Amino acid sequence: MKRVYLVVLPILLASAAMAGDTTPQKLLRGFEAEAGASGSAARGKTLFTSKHSGGKPETPSCITCHTSNLRGMGQTRVGKPIEPMALSVNPARLTEQAKVAKWFRRNCKSVLGRECSAQEKADVVAYLMSL
Ligand code: HEC
Repeated sequence: MKRVYLVVLPILLASAAMAGDTTPQKLLRGFEAEAGASGSAARGKTLFTSKHSGGKPETPSCITCHTSNLRGMGQTRVGKPIEPMALSVNPARLTEQAKVAKWFRRNCKSVLGRECSAQEKADVVAYLMSL
């Protein structure tokens, strides 16, 4: 009997982790509460698509990797595929708090040379929800 639990438990834990622990709506509300203002899809679009200085020269923009077609595939600097960012085509996006936090931290540092503010995160989430 014990052996059954040893097999089943990790499967249950893994599927719980994959099912996600948040939603884009919850994330948006959280970032908005932290910023004390609403997220703006228009501002998120500007942040996501324009060129910045201050980060790494090889990643001037979010679309360097995610590409300007956010409904399509992106590519890392070493050519690894990145799934689409638009929530309309990729509902798995923005459903895992730890993943969202990790990649906002990492990508904002690469592109902007600093972490994104709560306002900027709210804007980006609003933008990805609008696509
Ligand atoms: C160097 C390439 C690269 C750049 C530049 C980049 N990203 Fe990403 N991003 C990735 C990769 C790789 C992942 C993780 C793989 C995946 O989720 O498909 C990711 C994931 C994310 C996620 C997590 C989405 C989720 O599934 O929950 C967010 C949010 C994100 N990026 C936002 C940004 C923003 C905002 C910028 C610009 C400030 C940016 N990225 C720039 C490569 C990049």
